[in-house]
Amino acid sequence: MADPTPDFAAFLKAFPSYPETHIIDEVRRAQYARLDAGEHVYLDYTGAGLFAESQLQEHQELLRHNVFGNPHSSNPTSLAATHHVDHAREYVLRFFNADPQEYDVIFTSNASGALKLVGESYPFAKGGHYLLTFDNHNSVNGIREFAHARGADVIYIPVALPDMRVDEASLDGYLQRADRTAHNLFAYPAQSNFSSVQHPLEWIERAHAAGWDVLLDAAAFAPTSRLDLGNAKPDFVPLSFYKMFGYPTGIGALIARRKALAKLHRPWFAGGTITVASVQGGKYYLADGHTAFEDGTLDYLNIPAVEIGLKHLESIGYDVIHERVRCLTGWLLDNLTAMKHSTGEPLVRVYGPTNMENRGGAVTANFFNKDGMAIDHRYIESEANRFNISLRTGCFCNPGAGEIALGISRVELDVCFTRPGHESRLSLDDFRLCIDGKNSGAVRISVGLMTNFNDVQAFLGFARGLLT
Ligand SMILES: Cc1ncc(COP(=O)(O)O)c(C=O)c1O
Repeated sequence: MADPTPDFAAFLKAFPSYPETHIIDEVRRAQYARLDAGEHVYLDYTGAGLFAESQLQEHQELLRHNVFGNPHSSNPTSLAATHHVDHAREYVLRFFNADPQEYDVIFTSNASGALKLVGESYPFAKGGHYLLTFDNHNSVNGIREFAHARGADVIYIPVALPDMRVDEASLDGYLQRADRTAHNLFAYPAQSNFSSVQHPLEWIERAHAAGWDVLLDAAAFAPTSRLDLGNAKPDFVPLSFYKMFGYPTGIGALIARRKALAKLHRPWFAGGTITVASVQGGKYYLADGHTAFEDGTLDYLNIPAVEIGLKHLESIGYDVIHERVRCLTGWLLDNLTAMKHSTGEPLVRVYGPTNMENRGGAVTANFFNKDGMAIDHRYIESEANRFNISLRTGCFCNPGAGEIALGISRVELDVCFTRPGHESRLSLDDFRLCIDGKNSGAVRISVGLMTNFNDVQAFLGFARGLLT
């Protein structure tokens, strides 16, 4: 931990609690040696988390010493697989402090798979509503297509610059639009994957009281913040496990309140989701709870690795992780926003809060030259690549936040969406031309579980190199 540089001393002065997170440095040395061996500056934790070597070892040991068969059976190898899947399911509930009487866990292939399950099964109908924030991942936006198709109203709540939060005073007005005789779904991210704003969990009960079911997208929140489902009680919670602990990929979950699940109508049945189906009878009976939502054979060899990953996070603890991210992101924000060209022009414009109140560890910004002209985000990425810095550019599948951040208006967008045919669709480059050379994306630097001071300093050094 001892680092003699004046920068580190200044950092410790500004964030004196950082040394209390030293366990992460130890874990990084022991379990993530590949990061430093490869001289990686990994700053895309919102894109994907990173796994510890011990997760791989433990999982491989389990596979090496057991014989697992397809869980849709009752032979010994099948029962062994079922045991581990059930155990992982219970562990997910325990991890999020969700009462098993109240919540169920459906394993999916990722957060998007969980969102699609809700979208295709939610009883949208005329008179009903789908209410969502501008600030949402496309897999949440995509649910609007199911709502439109079934005649429900789709309503977007804007977020406002510079912090990119919802105007609290206007929220009740939106919530009052629920029609209590129909089904109404309100969706928002617990943490934005664009601005890193943590939208209030208190909205859940306000929305319930106004007649909404609540979908809380926890994909960007859960990797570094504790979600306590004993306290906040959304109806549907999608997430992806690789974002939390890197391994395995290909598994996510929909954590759902049992009474909300009972409202959903699956549009089909599949192997594993029924009690019986008949060809000649032309009918089927759907199974109960999670079974009705898990199509075909689960990824039963990898699901046990979810439990291993959750235990890895617990071995460090959310308090430590959260504090670490707070210190490093705070330092990153303070230094980046202070950088100015010789002309006095600031180097960056941050989209989202520039202090650490109710925000996570991603900083999204555009870079500007000494004349105040925006530097193409693709150039920043290619320059960062030369320093082995992994960051993310574009709109991060969150077009609503992007449109607000970049000041792209509805009128400008309408002009670019007049070619409905697939063959005549716009490419991303055509789209950029269409919005008249306006910036069509930004740069996201995201701090996470294993980030250390050197990673942040490496990025700040890179950014300083852009000053003229
Ligand atoms: C907030 C949020 N929701 C949903 C998703 C979708 O996750 P996945 O791509 O794993 O399905 C992401 C991925 O970046 C995200 O950040």
